[in-house]
Amino acid sequence: MRAPRVLITGACGLLGAHLTAALSRGYRVTGVDRHPWWGDQPVELLIRELSAPGVVPDLIRSITPEMLIHCAAMVDVEACERQPELAFACNAGLTRTLVRSVGPDCLFVYISTDSLFHGTAPFVTEAEAPSPKTAYARSKFQGEQEVAQATPNHLIVRTNVYGWSSSRKETSAEWLYRCLHSDERIRLFTDIFFTPIYVVDVVERLSRLLESGFRGLIHLAGRDRVSKYEFGSLLAAAAGFRMQHVQRASVDRSGLTALRPKEMSLSSQRFQSVTGLDLPGCLEGLQRFLVDRERPLNARVAGLEVTAGRLPPREAMRPSVPSVTE
Ligand SMILES: NC(=O)c1ccc[n+]([C@@H]2O[C@H](COP(=O)([O-])OP(=O)(O)OC[C@H]3O[C@@H](n4cnc5c(N)ncnc54)[C@H](OP(=O)(O)O)[C@@H]3O)[C@@H](O)[C@H]2O)c1
Repeated sequence: MRAPRVLITGACGLLGAHLTAALSRGYRVTGVDRHPWWGDQPVELLIRELSAPGVVPDLIRSITPEMLIHCAAMVDVEACERQPELAFACNAGLTRTLVRSVGPDCLFVYISTDSLFHGTAPFVTEAEAPSPKTAYARSKFQGEQEVAQATPNHLIVRTNVYGWSSSRKETSAEWLYRCLHSDERIRLFTDIFFTPIYVVDVVERLSRLLESGFRGLIHLAGRDRVSKYEFGSLLAAAAGFRMQHVQRASVDRSGLTALRPKEMSLSSQRFQSVTGLDLPGCLEGLQRFLVDRERPLNARVAGLEVTAGRLPPREAMRPSVPSVTE
């Protein structure tokens, strides 16, 4: 059977690169990014600036994807706060252009964030109404709405991933590893809680979700709710680093411009009941992260089961779970 054609935007970013490497084993994947591919195995990659006029319609016409996974985004929360117009253009405007360019048979997968909520209750479910506080979160939430309004053939996946990316820009976990490794003086927040998940664990579970036929809104995060400080302590313990120069800090006194929610933990119960899969614990994910440090991209995803390489027909779609705007 012919493998479906998949277009992945942001294919050279943290999540996009791991997805591109893994799904290329089962699907006919084309990645698109404004940066070059950095994986150890060749993939089909187009270098394009997606906001440039005519680029999106050209891409969709030439690839005619049966699934589009939209990972490209403006993810720097402070930069989004400084340039909200740019954040909305990228996270909402580009999403609107993409989702309106694909046909109704194309499954549109939008990667969203855990930072959409006001931040008062732990383990937020999909039933909770978002109340975004930062420009980043508002623009990502508008992106969700663009998708939900444009097509029922969608998946909106809220997550919070960490991992090793290209050396072009440092991810937050790479920063944390570097600082702990070199015993630098750093401050970690004791009052911001989240449910982080290692990028390879996301890719593995997302690929199974794609095969499930589920449509709608779903949370996919780690099992354990930890503070940023606890996350650092777990990483230090797993790697054998000392915490002596790590100070406990409060986000209230951080001087950051964007008012991040203090509670970002997600409940992934819906994901578990749809797929029957477990969620990785925080330490378990960090151990995998550490093992993967010296491994090239392809070796990290080599053990994953991406065997199906097919999408369920539309008529086999599970009843869609309403997204936030419906
Ligand atoms: N990482 C996290 O903790 C986290 C948490 C929650 C949700 N998410 C969501 O997960 C998705 C992937 O995040 P990530 O951490 O993998 O991001 P990332 O590493 O920044 O990857 C995104 C890639 O897309 C590129 N890109 C952005 N706009 C583009 C455009 N207009 N044309 C072409 N390429 C463009 C970026 O280039 P530049 O680097 O030049 O912008 C980057 O290479 C995003 O939707 C994000 O909102 C991430």
